[in-house]
Amino acid sequence: MRRIIITALLSALFVFNGIADEGMWLPMLVGKNIKEMQRMGFKLTADDIYSVNQSSLKDAIVQFGGGCTAELISAEGLLITNHHCGFSQIQAHSSVDHDYLTNGFWAMSRQEELPNPGLTVRFLVRMEDVTALVLTGVTPEMKESDRQSKLSDNIRELSKKVEAEGVGYKAVVRPMYYGNEYYLFLYEEFSDVRLVGAPPVSIGKFGGDTDNWVWPRHTGDFSMFRIYADKDNKPAPYSASNVPYKPKKHLPISMKGIQEDDFTLVYGFPGRTQQFITSHAVEMLINQSNPHKINLRNTRLSIFNHYSEANDTIRIQYASKHARVANAWKKWIGETIGLRRLDAVAKKRELENMFTAWASKSPELQNKYGDLMPTFKRLYNELTPLSLIVDYRNEAVYAVELVDFASRFDRVIAEAVKPNRDNEAFEIAKNKLVTYARRFYKDFNINVDVEVFAAMLKAYHEQIPAGYQPEFLGNLHQSCQGNWLQLAGEFYSQSVFADSVRVFTLLNDLDSTSARHFQADNIYGVYAQFENQYIDKVESRYYQISDSLNILYRTYVGGLMRMQADKRFFPDANSTMRFTYGRVGGFEPKDGVVYSHYTTLDGIIEKSTQANVPDYVPPVKLIDLYQKKDFGQYAVNGTVPVAFIGTNHTTGGNSGSPVIDANGNLIGVNFDRCWESTMSDVMFDPNYCRNIALDIRYALFVIDKFAGAGHLLNEMSIVR
Ligand code: ARG
Ligand code: ASP
Repeated sequence: MRRIIITALLSALFVFNGIADEGMWLPMLVGKNIKEMQRMGFKLTADDIYSVNQSSLKDAIVQFGGGCTAELISAEGLLITNHHCGFSQIQAHSSVDHDYLTNGFWAMSRQEELPNPGLTVRFLVRMEDVTALVLTGVTPEMKESDRQSKLSDNIRELSKKVEAEGVGYKAVVRPMYYGNEYYLFLYEEFSDVRLVGAPPVSIGKFGGDTDNWVWPRHTGDFSMFRIYADKDNKPAPYSASNVPYKPKKHLPISMKGIQEDDFTLVYGFPGRTQQFITSHAVEMLINQSNPHKINLRNTRLSIFNHYSEANDTIRIQYASKHARVANAWKKWIGETIGLRRLDAVAKKRELENMFTAWASKSPELQNKYGDLMPTFKRLYNELTPLSLIVDYRNEAVYAVELVDFASRFDRVIAEAVKPNRDNEAFEIAKNKLVTYARRFYKDFNINVDVEVFAAMLKAYHEQIPAGYQPEFLGNLHQSCQGNWLQLAGEFYSQSVFADSVRVFTLLNDLDSTSARHFQADNIYGVYAQFENQYIDKVESRYYQISDSLNILYRTYVGGLMRMQADKRFFPDANSTMRFTYGRVGGFEPKDGVVYSHYTTLDGIIEKSTQANVPDYVPPVKLIDLYQKKDFGQYAVNGTVPVAFIGTNHTTGGNSGSPVIDANGNLIGVNFDRCWESTMSDVMFDPNYCRNIALDIRYALFVIDKFAGAGHLLNEMSIVR
């Protein structure tokens, strides 16, 4: 009760002061937020956050591998990100003999750092509002497709021009507010990025999927890499002669620790939020999409678990896949609960009713916005059944690894059987496929996939309305009489794709004859038949509706911004660089429960004494350090801090983002959100939304005392 009153008072205050509790802000527009940040305790200036004339915090932060964030922590290109962000690289270097997942990896010299083909990081050189440029030649009367092609032309031309400004420059132009605005992001991309260190999974993924998305948390979720450049400090492909990159800026690390209510800044690359979606979309999400996708993943995960528990090779092969599948699965569960608890559908309706009422105030408004809500409703009604098919296509059909693999032969087969093919394009596509196939087979287990195949076909057959079933599926159901597993076994025993040696032989001298082996394959056939009926019955209508919705949202969001002219809006996350700020602080997840804002090593030991939780087994050496209280300079009140939570608005992609204190020092590495927060991509609630960060002092403790890699600390700038 008391909390409710305080919250009500606080929200009233927030409204008066314009203090935002949510928001992922564009660095270039930091001027709009800086006063408030300074009032909250931030000591730096707008130019310290983002500047094109001097080095600023943005120069110490990179987008890591497309889906995560990382920050520079030394003048010699050393960066820190999450363990789960470096996971696939750590896994790729691992085998039963060199099991870096289980044992950790620490390069004791620069020579021992491990290159990672395919991994890139990008720095933001600058950003620009290019709305006017991008919309040049676009008129309101234009057909949407003409508008899109005009936009693409403008963007292509602009990108080409700015990419010529520097080596490794990559331009990205992204719509904001559904295309009401456009921004250019110019990046400098580096591709020689080497693995420097990673703790064992028993630290880096301590708590595993049991604790994932949950507080209290004790995961030492970090790994370290180093960026290499050519002798001129410019991006260059991997070469033994490359040297450590010298960043314009790296973050000093604070050993001073955190207190409740301390100001925090999180700066990184949030992936995707959908704050503006209507009540209809939320209904579809929580009543249809999430429940179905969750069920399909339940099935897949239990198959993975079953095999991983019995076999170490499979455990390593499927570790990364398991983590990926489990991660979204668990998030969807939390998100659904959170949106229901918030009564998100009703809240959205309330806003929509307000909007409709506002739109009826003048003929001009009525004319522009009057039809929006009924149109949304009509389109979502039509979209909902189609969207189920799309979900099953992604989460059932392509969840079968061999079907997904076979689908990748499409282009090569098409080229191979062409009478006059483009030989160069053919060779490129073929070589790409060979590389892909090598990686695929390294982590592929046929027994696992046979079971997945059986379960997914069965689910598709049972859940999808008859009108959307490919014909072969019904026939198979008849012929196997419900014994999908036996059928799957037969399919795999006859498939070329199940035999890697044959696949490579056929690929090696691929011509129109051998291509027909692939084409006639039964697994390829499964892919082709699902795909054909999807193309026939779903695809074009689905995309037409999505395009129409996109236009509606452009109008709707533009209208909301007019209706609430005093509100400070932020564009949805779209993998572009953003900052967000808040404070260190706990919360009350449910009646009678209070979460404090930090965890310690004590909690790791506590969890480890719970019987039978394989995710809670810390390394012996860590227990040893704990028992001897051998904490060195990292001791705080007789233990070591491990993680903390704050009120920062984050999402997927913010993993690895620096958590920065009022003075611009690194205090933590963001890695997750609390279970009660997972609806924040759709609706943020300051009472429940907390980001989870690794306390940087725990990382230093692990590097120094646990791993004996203290030499790495010498290159960091540590503030005491
Ligand atoms: N939930 C976090 C994020 O979305 C961490 C996921 C990695 N950990 C795991 N146990 N799967 O990315
Ligand atoms: N764990 C997420 C990530 O990998 C962060 C989040 O969703 O809060 O980006």
